[in-house]
Amino acid sequence: MWSIIATWSFSLQCVEKGETILKSGGRALDAAEMGVRLVESDPAVDCVGRGGYLNADGELALDAAVMCGDTLKTGAVACVRGFEHPVSIARAVMEKTKHSILVGPYAEAFARQIGFAEAPPEYMITETARRKYEEEKRRRGKPSGHDTIGCLALDDAGSLCVATSTCGSNLRLPGRVGDTPIIGSGFYVQSGVGGAAATGLGEDIMRTCCSFRAVDLMRGGMSAQEAADTVVFTAHNTLRQCGLKPDCIALIVIDARGNCAGASNHKGFVYACARPGESPRIVSVDPVIDKDEQED
Ligand code: GLY
Repeated sequence: MWSIIATWSFSLQCVEKGETILKSGGRALDAAEMGVRLVESDPAVDCVGRGGYLNADGELALDAAVMCGDTLKTGAVACVRGFEHPVSIARAVMEKTKHSILVGPYAEAFARQIGFAEAPPEYMITETARRKYEEEKRRRGKPSGHDTIGCLALDDAGSLCVATSTCGSNLRLPGRVGDTPIIGSGFYVQSGVGGAAATGLGEDIMRTCCSFRAVDLMRGGMSAQEAADTVVFTAHNTLRQCGLKPDCIALIVIDARGNCAGASNHKGFVYACARPGESPRIVSVDPVIDKDEQED
């Protein structure tokens, strides 16, 4: 039975799109990709695609990935400029090459070769994004903002797939890559077992390999909620034990039957989800970490 879940309230449009595809017997990969494309095009979402945060050079460089849980094949791109839909370039990497990740100008050349239309900076970089960049630069602010759209979809055939996309943080160093295109950290799916996708500070999520851990815990018998809570709680405490101050880490998880869950180490995390008999809705997540230990 189909099911779909995605990070943050801005992903409601993604879940609604995915629902229409899955309801009519469509594939999980199409549902996840098509849903994420809507968010990539939405200039009001400042952490994904068009209208996203700029790097320290004032460029919009995007990361995205897809993974198919039947084959464990994955495709990802990092630091792609001048294309509206990095998630679809990531899918082309998975389907048309023997590789997993292409980066920067090489990923852009691949996209051109495949025939993806280029999107000029005046379309991709909005006035609001440019203004936030200039303000932060004047304030000499440190990189901020690190949310991601991650969408996990299960279709009626039992295939689990994931698609992710982000622009990373405002004022990040050019060339910086977070967890979003990194298998096992930002995402992981295995059909018949489950899937996970992360949002939050990529450096912390990569240090703790959150998504693979969640799927592995479900393989060992945990429910989606137990796996999500355990991974976020353990990641937060592991970082603390190693002398670090954990930033935001949040995870969405789905099991092989379509049960969905979310966990976070900070307040304010929400996800969108839908399944047969449950229309697309937003779910708030209570932090698994005590209030006095949460990042402000
Ligand atoms: N989680 C997205 C990033 O850190 O780039």
